[in-house]
Amino acid sequence: MTAFTVNDRPVRYRMDPQTPLLFALREASNLTGTKYGCGTGDCGACTVDIDGEAIRSCQISIADCEGRFVTTIEALSQDRSHPVQQAWAAEQVTQCGFCEPGMIMAIAVLLKKTPDPTNEEIEAAVTNICRCGVYPRVKPAIRRAVR
Ligand code: FES
Repeated sequence: MTAFTVNDRPVRYRMDPQTPLLFALREASNLTGTKYGCGTGDCGACTVDIDGEAIRSCQISIADCEGRFVTTIEALSQDRSHPVQQAWAAEQVTQCGFCEPGMIMAIAVLLKKTPDPTNEEIEAAVTNICRCGVYPRVKPAIRRAVR
């Protein structure tokens, strides 16, 4: 049994310790905002915040989360939309929306660490793939979020 914190609540998963965090979140905790895209660490749809780092949850086992603090898109903002989510809406970034939670989580982590990132820092930190191709609207949304 592994124990850690998800969205400020202690969790204990009675699953194979090698289960990817993504599956524990979606299947045991019903936190389905974190998406399964590729399962190979490439797309970023499954990105969550673990101890202040953007982590692809399909690539980390629940055993490796022991004692750590996980935040998913459901808890990114407790009372109202996070500034990145507000900027996302204002810039009409979303198309199908599937990649959106992972991309927003990656950007939220970036802005927490680097409040006014350069284009190079954005490109290095946000490597999420979007099959709709919303990329031209992402940087304006990030700029709006930091205002
Ligand atoms: Fe984890 Fe694609 S589902 S990176």
